Amino acid sequence: MTRLLLVCLGNICRSPMAEGALRARIQASPLAGRVQVDSAGTGGWHAGQAPDPRAIACARGHGVDISTLRARRIAREDFERFDWILCADRDNLHDVGRLAPPVARPRVALWLPWAGVAGPDDLADPYSGGPRDFEQVWARVEQAAAATVERLARAGGSGIIER
Ligand code: 4NP
Repeated sequence: MTRLLLVCLGNICRSPMAEGALRARIQASPLAGRVQVDSAGTGGWHAGQAPDPRAIACARGHGVDISTLRARRIAREDFERFDWILCADRDNLHDVGRLAPPVARPRVALWLPWAGVAGPDDLADPYSGGPRDFEQVWARVEQAAAATVERLARAGGSGIIER
């Protein structure tokens, strides 16, 4: 089993959208049942809350229900439980890198480049934006979800690419 943790700031916009898109992709792939996906935030302000209504509406428009997800803050145990801790943007990467025990740091990465998605490395924060910003996030997380499945499939499920 490969376990992936997707991390953003609040765990109510980008990472729950990413979790929904990636779970759907995995479910429809030969990796179904072999990869677990969860998400968390570097901040705890929204802990216990459902995703932002705009994120729920956007995902629903693409056929994915994320309404039952609940926000949580990243915790120490996550660095032991997950094979990869994949961050939405460089700020998240910086914050997670400071929390991570040294032994876990090689398993902390910026999600889009890790997956091999072309374009900007950061998943832009849509929180202060509008519906169009959420749609842009969805388009990026769909690309990244597909690229993640490809990477894991190529690596035999572990995500570790032998060079
Ligand atoms: P997220 O978006 O990191 O994609 O979940 C945000 C959600 C909440 C806040 C910032 C970004 N906030 O400042 O409360």
